Amino acid sequence: METKVNPSFQVFLETLSVLPAISPLSNKLFTIIDDPNVSIAVIGSLIAEDPGLASRLITVANSPFYPFSEKVSTIRGALVRLGLVTVRGILLTTSLFDRVKHQPGVFELWKHSLGVSRVAKNLSLRLEGVMNPDEATLSGLLHDIGKLPFLIFKPQRMESIWKGLPRSGKDSDWELEEFGLSHDQLGGRLLTQWKFPEVIRDSIRWHHRPEKCPVKSRRSSALVGLADTICRGVGIGHADFPYLDAPIGAFLDVLEMRGEEIVPVIQEVVGDRDMIEMASREIF
Ligand SMILES: [Fe+2]
Ligand SMILES: [Fe+2]
Repeated sequence: METKVNPSFQVFLETLSVLPAISPLSNKLFTIIDDPNVSIAVIGSLIAEDPGLASRLITVANSPFYPFSEKVSTIRGALVRLGLVTVRGILLTTSLFDRVKHQPGVFELWKHSLGVSRVAKNLSLRLEGVMNPDEATLSGLLHDIGKLPFLIFKPQRMESIWKGLPRSGKDSDWELEEFGLSHDQLGGRLLTQWKFPEVIRDSIRWHHRPEKCPVKSRRSSALVGLADTICRGVGIGHADFPYLDAPIGAFLDVLEMRGEEIVPVIQEVVGDRDMIEMASREIF
């Protein structure tokens, strides 16, 4: 069901499409990072202009997500360790999260995003040929990005909705009612405007409805949806979705997986819970 987008929210979305939410420096970086002719040295010197961004990338590279014994201390080291695909995702996600980070419940959404990126990467390594691990990491990180414009646009309303929980029903249902589109629809739309690769865009657009996804990206969208469902199931969710809104079988069917195959994935993320909490606090 696609209802009409709330007109004032539509105006807000149009301004978001040209990335004003992101600093001019991040915006420039965002553009050149895709250019294969631009060297890491050039990207590194641009990042050095923003000490906050530089120290954040170094923090991410040294976080428990990247369990190397040697710490990196330079921008170049962080870029090499993280890879440009991840750096691009961190740039975008943190720029948007920064605008709402002091709002209640946003830390949980951030932790959930990091958890899903971790599980999506794990699944991509187990399920050969579905999605490359960098794309899976990035898709997990960005999968609920469509919730952030709602928080930027109507912070008080969102807070009161979150406070009014628990309630029944899917988050996408009340988002449709309130804004005229749901976070998965909006996420897909934003990633199209921001020119993300099709597989990432589709995986996010269809992470709750993989059966509707174009065949080409269907298994990737199921992989991201399964990572999301596993994280919610083990308590790495947030107040916005106390309920599992799609049966796990819907994702397993698309991926042709048996239920018992996800047991080790669940055990691993349960073991990683404290690490995910710690890394989320360090980076936030
Ligand atoms: Fe979602
Ligand atoms: Fe999610």
